[in-house]
Amino acid sequence: MRDFLIAPSILSADFARLGEEVENVLEAGADVVHFDVMDNHFVPNLTIGPMVCKALRDYGIAAPIDVHLMVQPVDRMIDDFAKAGASIITFHPEASTHIDRSLQQIKDAGCQAGLVFNPATPLHYLDYVLDKVDVILLMSVNPGFGGQSFIPATLDKLRQARQLVDASGRDIRLEIDGGVKVDNIAEIAAAGADMFVAGSAIFNQPDYAKVIRDMREQLAS
Ligand code: DX5
Ligand code: ZN
Repeated sequence: MRDFLIAPSILSADFARLGEEVENVLEAGADVVHFDVMDNHFVPNLTIGPMVCKALRDYGIAAPIDVHLMVQPVDRMIDDFAKAGASIITFHPEASTHIDRSLQQIKDAGCQAGLVFNPATPLHYLDYVLDKVDVILLMSVNPGFGGQSFIPATLDKLRQARQLVDASGRDIRLEIDGGVKVDNIAEIAAAGADMFVAGSAIFNQPDYAKVIRDMREQLAS
């Protein structure tokens, strides 16, 4: 069986108690902290920056932090997030003028690098950079907000991405972000994903451990 990673998106956490929330969700069985960075320019919302990532590290969070950059320009955020303790940094190809350079910059900063594909963005951005990519993140909603519904066409795109990854023979994570819930996670895994971002499905429930347990049960079925 493939190993599956569950990455709660802290976008739906209680920001007034962020350290505690992240600690709780990790204790509840999460593997990775998904950290959504929005700039009110590339996407129509404004969230958090490197200071908050560093604050989580200073608070004692040791789990991998998966920084999803929804910002334009991309490059000047990379080193700041690497220094702030990011483990993975992903960005949208449309937001970078020099995609290869941005990927290399992330790797040079000591982080894992990834490209993020909006629902209508084609996968061909990967054609000449697959050797620099550790993570492919497919958006299954249009980015900007938590709590949206999974766009079904993403399943076909996931299958294509899975074929591409398998054919490459490289160790690349296939991550899905948006509208992931207990009742669709099995279908999403069957289409090829092995890393699951879930914001509202986890943080809008009182018992994080139960949701994560239910998700793992679905993944094992
Ligand atoms: C959306 C963000 C997501 C979001 C997912 O732009 O990238 O990570 O928080 O939230 P849910 O799981 O509620 O769709
Ligand atoms: Zn995200």
